[in-house]
Amino acid sequence: MAKPSSIEAQPARRASATTLDELRAGSPYVSYSYSYPHKTSYRPLEPRALKDVWATEERDAVFLYLHIPFCAVRCGFCNLLATKGADGDLTRQYIDTLARHARAAREAIGDRQVVRVALGGGTPTFLDPAELDRVFGVVRDVMGADTSTVPVGIEVSPETVTPERLQVLREHGVDRVSIGVQSFDQSEAGRMGRPQRDGDVHRALRLIREFGFPTLNIDLIYGGDGQDEASWRRSLEAALEYRPEELYLYPLYVRPLTGLGRHGISWDEHRLALYRAGRDQLLGRGYRQVSMRMFRAPHAKAQDGPVYCCQQDGMVGLGAGARSYTSALHYSTEYAVGRDSVRGIIQAYIDQDDAALRLLRHGIELDDDERKRRYLIQSLLQADGLARGDYSRLFGGDALEHFPQLQSLVAHGLAVEAPEQLVLTPGGLELSDAIGPWLYSERVGRRMQEYAWA
Ligand SMILES: C[S@@+](CC[C@H](N)C(=O)[O-])C[C@H]1O[C@@H](n2cnc3c(N)ncnc32)[C@H](O)[C@@H]1O
Ligand code: SF4
Repeated sequence: MAKPSSIEAQPARRASATTLDELRAGSPYVSYSYSYPHKTSYRPLEPRALKDVWATEERDAVFLYLHIPFCAVRCGFCNLLATKGADGDLTRQYIDTLARHARAAREAIGDRQVVRVALGGGTPTFLDPAELDRVFGVVRDVMGADTSTVPVGIEVSPETVTPERLQVLREHGVDRVSIGVQSFDQSEAGRMGRPQRDGDVHRALRLIREFGFPTLNIDLIYGGDGQDEASWRRSLEAALEYRPEELYLYPLYVRPLTGLGRHGISWDEHRLALYRAGRDQLLGRGYRQVSMRMFRAPHAKAQDGPVYCCQQDGMVGLGAGARSYTSALHYSTEYAVGRDSVRGIIQAYIDQDDAALRLLRHGIELDDDERKRRYLIQSLLQADGLARGDYSRLFGGDALEHFPQLQSLVAHGLAVEAPEQLVLTPGGLELSDAIGPWLYSERVGRRMQEYAWA
């Protein structure tokens, strides 16, 4: 197996393929399409009242996402809107703003019900127990979400897991805890740019299990420098010891603006080989593959709905960097990854008065074509594939007629077509991060190319 041997320059962001031959000749790792359109395609908009944007929205259920942009560390690979540490009483100011933002959002969405809640980041458990309690108070008292009945998920990092914090999460009905481990070998994690102690990882995992959360998810990353198939398998085995209900296996992407960048065919081959090894190991242990990244345990309780009902629900995002989705418009604050830019965005978020929090200024409009693409990408990249009947009911036509290029996936053996389904083959699923971008509109692809990283 080819392994990356050296750290090279950050690759230029390449255009996505237009034909399937180009797609197959290119990298399998173009972009993670978990939410189309990607946030780097958002642009400044004429200020608009949240209330007006939500007034015409037909959906009566919303997913609530709260973004906590603070972490105990800043990982070299991470391109999320997050910053290491918080000076002075920054976290208090941030939560104050979150509460004001929630009031603005509640007013805008009217009596729509919050049916699912997630706290992500960053690292929400960077907050201390009293601060976490306050955030849940906002979710309950301002957003009106009964966290004892709706599913609630939270992201944690190993060193922030303490009994006091987990106690708060239990009291507020959190049922899914997702922990970023990345690697069970601290020197390997360190080489990826993740400072971490193995002792913290195991202590955190034991504690989470002792507290009895119904769903434990563990994030692991493959493709790091010096990681090989044997060390990758050891990380997977170490994760399996904790019987996680879910596992996310992320191919390593290196964020712009770091010295960690490198590229080349050998790195692609390396990631692909580790992906296959990881997938086969988990399938062999009875895990079901849900998407390229996600695997669910045989003992996981049946889902009462998709992990995130993006196809049906609107999403209300609270916090700096949190995205909100209506059917025709996606919006958020600005996005950045560089330290000073991230801090500037957090400060600008806090500095907004109530009137400013009632407006949106940054995002992307989705016309009918973009809505179809979004639906298509988010369905097709799931192992269960695209339900053609559902697509037709929503968009008044067959997906394969609206997007004839899908036929070439079938012709190349990357998807199989049935009257009711279009499902990626294993060879297609492992190319998810190339197939997603291949389905982006020209406008979104161009905007992502033109995005100036800060
Ligand atoms: C918000 S973090 C999870 C919680 C917590 N902040 C932590 O890191 O432990 C989201 C996950 O995205 C994954 N991730 C972030 N940036 C990545 C990158 N550049 N390449 C691959 N995976 C990445 C990591 O596995 C990480 O655990
Ligand atoms: S991977 Fe997690 S802990 Fe690391 S910087 Fe990103 S959000 Fe923070």
